[in-house]
Amino acid sequence: MINTKLFDLAKEVAQQAYAPYSHFRVGAALITDTGNIYQGCNVENASYGLSICAERNAIFNMVANGDRIITEIAIYVDSDKIFPPCGACRQVLAEFGEDIIIYYGNDHQITETTMKEILPHTFRLK
Ligand code: THU
Repeated sequence: MINTKLFDLAKEVAQQAYAPYSHFRVGAALITDTGNIYQGCNVENASYGLSICAERNAIFNMVANGDRIITEIAIYVDSDKIFPPCGACRQVLAEFGEDIIIYYGNDHQITETTMKEILPHTFRLK
């Protein structure tokens, strides 16, 4: 079942996205094992490779606030086409939860998946 409250928070923070180059406004909201919620948006740069995705922004916000285990993450994109987290974000997500449930979508559709489904055979050192 889609966590619509979390998805709405992802949509809310997408409004803060800084995306003058791609025009993809992305928002992410995650909830931790402690019940705390963190949000993040994508932030682009004129030197394109320095841009950061919404998901990692939310994760780094979580770490800075002392939480370590993600249980669910919602990702909203202000676009006709929806997408699951990019490869880099999948690896960073995997560091903070093996059983994360992922919701991603736009104003018209939301898809549910899991960490295990989108990143099998995960690289881990612990
Ligand atoms: N983006 C995200 O925020 N999350 C993803 O999982 C993929 C891509 C952002 C990065 C960039 O600002 C824009 O979307 C286009 O790639």
